[in-house]
Amino acid sequence: MKNVLKWLGIVVGILVGLVVIAAATIYGVTEYRSTRAWNVKVASVTIPTDAASVKWGEHVAVVRGCVDCHGANLGGKIFIEDPAVGRLISVNLTSGKGGIGKTFSDTDLVRAIRHGVDPSGRSVWFMPAQEFYYLSDTDLGALIAYLRSVPPVDNELPKSNLAFLIRTIYLLTGEVALFPAELINHDAPRPVAPPVGVTADYGKYLAVGCTGCHGTGFGGGAIPGAPPSFPPAINITPGGEIQGWSEAGFIKAMRSGVTPGGRQLNNDYMPWKIIGQMTDDELKAVLLYLRSLPKKEQGSR
Ligand code: HEC
Ligand code: HEC
Repeated sequence: MKNVLKWLGIVVGILVGLVVIAAATIYGVTEYRSTRAWNVKVASVTIPTDAASVKWGEHVAVVRGCVDCHGANLGGKIFIEDPAVGRLISVNLTSGKGGIGKTFSDTDLVRAIRHGVDPSGRSVWFMPAQEFYYLSDTDLGALIAYLRSVPPVDNELPKSNLAFLIRTIYLLTGEVALFPAELINHDAPRPVAPPVGVTADYGKYLAVGCTGCHGTGFGGGAIPGAPPSFPPAINITPGGEIQGWSEAGFIKAMRSGVTPGGRQLNNDYMPWKIIGQMTDDELKAVLLYLRSLPKKEQGSR
């Protein structure tokens, strides 16, 4: 009996030891990745000063989701606070107290938005810079001009932190876009943005923002890293219900949240209130692009 207890003790001891080692490894690796320094070359972008550009920059900030995450006044907020994810703070982008407006140079802003890299060199967390990487010089310049124009907001926020569970899911699945700097080829030649117009090419440029949820093939499916309560994104290639939608029906769905089939889209999961603020021409371009995609099955991402 004594022997059995002794062996049981050893086995339990080894198991506990393994769990501790696994946990320390997950923590250590994610800690390294979250703080490692990225040295990226930042192309200079001309920041316009005319009122029309600032107004365009505001439109870009809305339809690209900056306003949604950073708050209507861009003063930042606690964007996620969840035991599985941790606490993510979307930074105060204004020049008020706690904001980055006074300390970030234009280059710092371009580096953060386009490369997902903070002035200290670490990756910003969770912000989809891998999508903003494609923003044209014109759009990014206007966006920065707009950021510079907003009234200062005093809002000092606590620091972000990452929960153990999200670190584990990130490492095991490799699918959660936690550190965007890892997802960008910083040395590649800059992608050439298509000219503005009602074309599938321009629609593709705009639809980059749909890929985080609908998948890079637009086939929909479970969204990596989303809580289990989050419904799967829907197939929006011509293989899905959308193939039967008219242009007017698509625009109406994005503006009202009601699909041609009469289904209400929940803005908490499918941000139609943001997408619906695209201009008619932008929505037409997005639809042209979606219609140009190869048919896919629901769930194929
Ligand atoms: C999905 C939510 C989300 C969206 C969309 C988003 N951000 Fe962020 N942003 C964040 C979070 C979260 C942080 C803080 C990241 C951190 O703590 O590392 C951040 C940080 C930043 C920073 C500071 C980065 C640094 O170096 O400290 C800038 C600048 C910024 N965002 C600008 C923008 C702009 C401009 C847009 C629109 C093109 C945008 N963000 C869209 C969530 C978002
Ligand atoms: C934050 C995640 C997210 C983003 C970003 C997103 N979607 Fe969605 N979308 C969803 C989810 C989830 C659903 C399913 C909603 C439901 O079942 O109510 C959906 C549903 C849809 C539908 C309804 C399809 C159908 O057959 O009923 C369309 C159309 C659509 N999205 C288009 C887009 C377009 C276009 C973009 C980019 C401009 C986009 N979505 C960006 C999550 C997203």
